[in-house]
Amino acid sequence: MKLMGHRLLNIVLVPVMAASVGFLLIPTPIPLASSQETTAGGGAAGSEIVIPAMNAANGRILFASKGCVVCHAVNGIGGKDARPLDAATMPKQMNPFDFAAGMWRSAMIMAPLQRKELGEQTQLTGQELADIIAFVHSADEQRKFSEDNIPPEIKQLMKE
Ligand code: HEC
Repeated sequence: MKLMGHRLLNIVLVPVMAASVGFLLIPTPIPLASSQETTAGGGAAGSEIVIPAMNAANGRILFASKGCVVCHAVNGIGGKDARPLDAATMPKQMNPFDFAAGMWRSAMIMAPLQRKELGEQTQLTGQELADIIAFVHSADEQRKFSEDNIPPEIKQLMKE
């Protein structure tokens, strides 16, 4: 009877506990987990915060195609209007929001310059920005960065 009671407790409690843990720990794919801590807010009435997976290889393509390379260099490839964004110059502990905050801080200067040099202010989705941030902090991926990653129309802008 004691055993039965224990079992019954498990049958009732385990799913309840699993449900409440699942409720607190909303799954967050974080490949750079070693350097990050994540918390997720929300709940029944709130909005879940989900940190996207950050893809440095995709970021390598976007860094060039979105035109960052026109003003910022990586590996010595790129413009000199702004500081290089080599991974070696980045903080050892990477907080992606700090990078975004840096862009925001520089927005007053960067945005008009983008309109002048690229014809428009660069538009980025959250995922694109996440991938660019991963690239900017990945020395491995940056070693693969070459002129071949730069689309012809962006190369043309770099010549002007
Ligand atoms: C047209 C030129 C131009 C383009 C294109 C450009 N930037 Fe910038 N960026 C600048 C300049 C100039 C600054 C420095 C502004 C200042 O002095 O505050 C800057 C500053 C920054 C900073 C802050 C640097 C720091 O040390 O805090 C970051 C981060 C940054 N840019 C990222 C990017 C990314 C990512 C892209 C592509 C999506 C991009 N920039 C595209 C010109 C550009």
